[in-house]
Amino acid sequence: MTNSQSTSLILSARGLRKLWPVPSGDIEVLRGVDIDLKLGESVAIVGPSGSGKSTLLTLLATLDRPTSGSLVIDGMQTTSLTDKELARWRGKSLGIIFQQFHLMPSLTALENVSLPLEIAGTSDASSLAKKALCDVGMDHRLNHLPGALSGGECQRVAIARALVTKPSLLLADEPSGSLDPQTGDQVTNLLFEMVQTLKMSMILVTHNPEIARRCQRILRMNHGLLETIS
Ligand SMILES: Nc1ncnc2c1ncn2[C@@H]1O[C@H](COP(=O)(O)OP(=O)(O)OP(=O)(O)O)[C@@H](O)[C@H]1O
Ligand SMILES: [Mg+2]
Repeated sequence: MTNSQSTSLILSARGLRKLWPVPSGDIEVLRGVDIDLKLGESVAIVGPSGSGKSTLLTLLATLDRPTSGSLVIDGMQTTSLTDKELARWRGKSLGIIFQQFHLMPSLTALENVSLPLEIAGTSDASSLAKKALCDVGMDHRLNHLPGALSGGECQRVAIARALVTKPSLLLADEPSGSLDPQTGDQVTNLLFEMVQTLKMSMILVTHNPEIARRCQRILRMNHGLLETIS
């Protein structure tokens, strides 16, 4: 790869493998995944249930480490960082959205969105978090706990939390997968609008072909390997 090619890449993974130990021996869930993502590009990952999509997204989000392989994001060789360095780097560099929202149940919407800013030491965390919640149409529920919000509202808060630090890369695993179709459409529209407005790069796992087609490229996970399908 030339220097000019490598500088335009926000993410470059090579030979990512993941083995899970099970009583009958190890199972190889990812069998050597290569993926490049250009700055500002959006890519969808589709594929059958159990093919390894979430396992891959978790590795790309640096929430788990590969058994082997390399992962460079925004110029950082993530596999060479310690867990502590990685957590600090991740908080500033990545936005992550999960199907089940993963909000902190004991924190209000505002506190959930403020948290990544506070961890990063940002002084005006609360006012930036309020603005982020306003951007996702949730400024009327600032002091609600997640348990008192609907699924769609929880996902809006989770989107605000993922984007409030203005990360260059967003990783989303079936962000509308647990919402009813209408709410899912609204949340998906919001996500794509925000990604476009903030000029972010995105890797999005989805089972929905219509959502996948809204990304610039579609990759298919097949038995632990990625194939290009468009
Ligand atoms: N902690 C674990 N220990 C053992 N096996 C695991 C573990 N996590 C995942 N697996 C296995 O890895 C395979 C891939 O799982 P993964 O969650 O990545 O699939 P997926 O493509 O995201 O599926 P879905 O579309 O249903 O979300 C599955 O066979 C699963 O059973
Ligand atoms: Mg999954």
